[in-house]
Amino acid sequence: MEYFVVAGGSPLAGEVHIAGAKNVALKAFVASLLTDEEITLHNVPLITDVFFMLDVLKSLGVSVRIEGNSVRIRNGHMKKSTVPLEVGARLRTSSLVLGPMLARIGKARIPNPGGCRIGARPIDRHIEGLMKMGASIAYHSEDGYFYASAKRLHGTVFTFPKNTHTGTETLMLAAVLAEGETVLKNAAEEVEIDDLIGLLRAMGADIRRRAPREIVIRGVGALHGATYTIMPDRNEEVTFAIAAAVTGGNITVRQSVRGHLGAFLSAFQKAGGRAEIIDETSTRYSQPGPIRPTDIVTRIHPGFMTDWQGPWALYMTQANGISTVHETVFESRFSYVSELRKMGSSIDFFDPPVDDPESFYNFNWGDRIEGYHQAIRISGPTQFHNAVLVMEDLRAGATLLLAALTAHGESYIHGIEQIDRGYERIEERLCALGAKIIRKREEKL
Ligand code: EPZ
Repeated sequence: MEYFVVAGGSPLAGEVHIAGAKNVALKAFVASLLTDEEITLHNVPLITDVFFMLDVLKSLGVSVRIEGNSVRIRNGHMKKSTVPLEVGARLRTSSLVLGPMLARIGKARIPNPGGCRIGARPIDRHIEGLMKMGASIAYHSEDGYFYASAKRLHGTVFTFPKNTHTGTETLMLAAVLAEGETVLKNAAEEVEIDDLIGLLRAMGADIRRRAPREIVIRGVGALHGATYTIMPDRNEEVTFAIAAAVTGGNITVRQSVRGHLGAFLSAFQKAGGRAEIIDETSTRYSQPGPIRPTDIVTRIHPGFMTDWQGPWALYMTQANGISTVHETVFESRFSYVSELRKMGSSIDFFDPPVDDPESFYNFNWGDRIEGYHQAIRISGPTQFHNAVLVMEDLRAGATLLLAALTAHGESYIHGIEQIDRGYERIEERLCALGAKIIRKREEKL
């Protein structure tokens, strides 16, 4: 296994190009199953989740060619209908293939994507919608697979009981070839979905957002090949912005997507951060003055994105005073807290009073496990000392890497395969900004 050795304490300065959005690329690959013609995707981030998803496609008999940050996919008459457990279980998004497989071959057998380190993450909302479109889906606990079949998916009017980003995408991917019209109500508004809509329309799908939280899809007979460029990754941009702020440097982000970062930019400004517009697609991030304690509550789009809350909490450990982070999308997304405490930060858990938790929180309230908390109170500033840290999940990984860059002295970070899932060549790009990070391989004893 590999680990990072990080010598923290130096300000980061320079330019960085934001990579393509992981949470678009993964779904774009799935969309390619909807046609036998070639799909070419540009600006694909070369991260392990991308390679995992390409393995899922290859397990279905799809041919894949990677050329730099472009991927050519030709789904020559998808033959297989099973995603093997060892392939599908690595990636929650593998369940997205359900829709296209039902649409194309009428059956699918996929492993339960189930929980991961940030919560139970069931797909009940996906299943409910697909069943309304005529699929029959059963979960067999004896082998951990979902068995699905459908003679012909048909259009329906489906109202999501609660927001679901990939649930909305699952039903879009199923509806574009279904018979008749599908109307998705209470559909998610995350910007990655709009990029997927852009690709589907380039493939000939009849799909559009008709009103807030409402998507209309009219099924067509077939989709054709397309070439599409994935939008930049807003989670990357937030990570580099906070890296500039906590190290006292300044980072110019190229391929900046300010339009996707509204809630972050207003919180960042409240905290004394500066986001200087350089040009249409470039933003320079810095922290000209002291970091002001600023409370945030994560929300579905267009609110403060849950993927940003770990790096934000790290930012607030450097603020002068008390800040709170209230996580409302996932039920267990504070795995980084124990690690930040190792570096000296003072963070307490608490649960803000909420009248009706089932409707207030985006997760299913019944999925919580005893001992979970939904909020943390951070008192800063903390001069981090170095430590040995372990990354538990992708965004917690980014949080710990930022913490090590903030600390004085040399820190060791294990579990770095987590950050490799979502950030391309992260240490190379940070070192180009002045960071001192070395990737090492643990010696076999
Ligand atoms: C997507 O996850 C993203 N992942 C997440 O990014 C992101 O944090 C999240 O949307 C919110 O925007 C991808 O796009 C691959 P949800 P998703 O369905 O679709 C519960 C990252 O780090 N729920 O909107 O899984 C669910 O457990 C990742 O890049 C159900 O209970 O999120 C969660 O608590 C992390 N039943 C909440 O709802 C369902 O059927 C929101 O889930 C579906 C969801």
